[in-house]
Amino acid sequence: KRPPSRKGSMADVPRNLLDQIKAFEELFTVDTAKLNEIVDHFVSELKKGLSKEGGSIPMIPTFVMDWPTGKEKGAYLALDMGGTNLRVCEIILDGNRSFDTIQSKYHMPPELKVGDSEALWDYVAECMEAFIASYHGSIEEVEKLHLGFTFSYPCTQYAINHGILQRWTKGFDIEGVEGKDVVPMLAKAFEKRNLPITVTALINDTTGTLVASNYTDPSFKMGVIFGTGCNAAYYDTLGNIPKLEGKVSLPPDTPMAINTEWGAFDNEKVVLPRTKYDVQVDEESPRPGQQCFEKLISGLYLAEIFRLCVLDMHDCGLIFENLDVTAFRKPYCIDASFLAMIEMDPFENLSETEELFLTKFGLKTTEPERKLFRRLAELIGTRSARLSACGVAAIAKKTGMTEFHAGADGSVFNKYPFFRERGAEALSEIFNWPSKKQKDHPIKILPAEDGSGVGAALIAAMTLSRQERGEK
Ligand code: GLC
Repeated sequence: KRPPSRKGSMADVPRNLLDQIKAFEELFTVDTAKLNEIVDHFVSELKKGLSKEGGSIPMIPTFVMDWPTGKEKGAYLALDMGGTNLRVCEIILDGNRSFDTIQSKYHMPPELKVGDSEALWDYVAECMEAFIASYHGSIEEVEKLHLGFTFSYPCTQYAINHGILQRWTKGFDIEGVEGKDVVPMLAKAFEKRNLPITVTALINDTTGTLVASNYTDPSFKMGVIFGTGCNAAYYDTLGNIPKLEGKVSLPPDTPMAINTEWGAFDNEKVVLPRTKYDVQVDEESPRPGQQCFEKLISGLYLAEIFRLCVLDMHDCGLIFENLDVTAFRKPYCIDASFLAMIEMDPFENLSETEELFLTKFGLKTTEPERKLFRRLAELIGTRSARLSACGVAAIAKKTGMTEFHAGADGSVFNKYPFFRERGAEALSEIFNWPSKKQKDHPIKILPAEDGSGVGAALIAAMTLSRQERGEK
């Protein structure tokens, strides 16, 4: 099954729907000039985030101050508190740029995401206990275990094993955690159960992705997540981080991995092309005015933008004539996989899309309506990929790196159709490369090594060897 020509015939689409398509094209298209304008502003915001005054991008020093050598060795625990799952792994690094992993996934009950803090940490500790029990037998016989904890929310760090949650992102909203160090909370929950686990490193998923990718292939210099959220990490040097002046007394060329938290780019609303649908998504989110870049790009929001566009067309009397759209009015009732399916529908008449609307929402669509949906999904997916490329380009320009790989992970990168090609094309426009094809590009965004598992283990290992060397 091959997707029909992306341009599918529009001959049977009535004038008013064609006009609507055109209107959406104007709203959602980000042309080359706009890409460049965004990148320029992005570069200055990255720098501002590192300055003493700070800016809207947090640019968090992670206290990961080494590149992996490839010689890291030993067994480590890794815990990833992601959105849908809680993943626990044990990783054995073999000292030779490779590793073995065992892992278990535990369901993350949705009520925990908006519940109370103690319940959250207790649940995490319970899963860790279950993991250790299943792989090590009795807890009493287990010696001290070192944990790399992947906690992918903006945390201010003043040491590798501490992190103060600035604010929840990605729809999490648990009281009593913002403004506090999350490590002691987790450690306390471990203590309650007598678990012999030390939180050796607290890391962001992007930092893990950066380190894990670089470990397996040193040409990787950036870690990027395009998933439920969107963010990137790279290494800068202390000399470029004025806000650490007087706080860390090491030579200016010392590397420091930076968790950019670029999802917050343009929170002050200077440059991003936001439509009224984006404004609505933002206003109705638990944290309006925050993560403005992320809200145009990441998996959590893509389908919501689409849903609001579709409802608006219905409310204007353009589509779904005389149909009951109540079920479709439920916020977040579709996710990015719904959009991905529309984009992948292999049939000229988009019969899979027809089936999708019918079975999920009891909505009978006409063929012209489905063509409009397909185009709309393409526009939203394309905008996401093109804006994402702006972030990668901005870090490249800020650091002066001209040839490298960015290691990428996350559901949008791994599953959303054409995301990679569209991103590569945007990069070629920004840098004026003659070819649109990624294989010809000096900067490539490629699938990364598992950051929240292997990356967390590596950072724990790197931390222990720093301690052994007597370094901070
Ligand atoms: C959100 C989080 C960030 C994380 C990203 C990807 O942007 O704030 O910490 O890296 O999602 O998971």
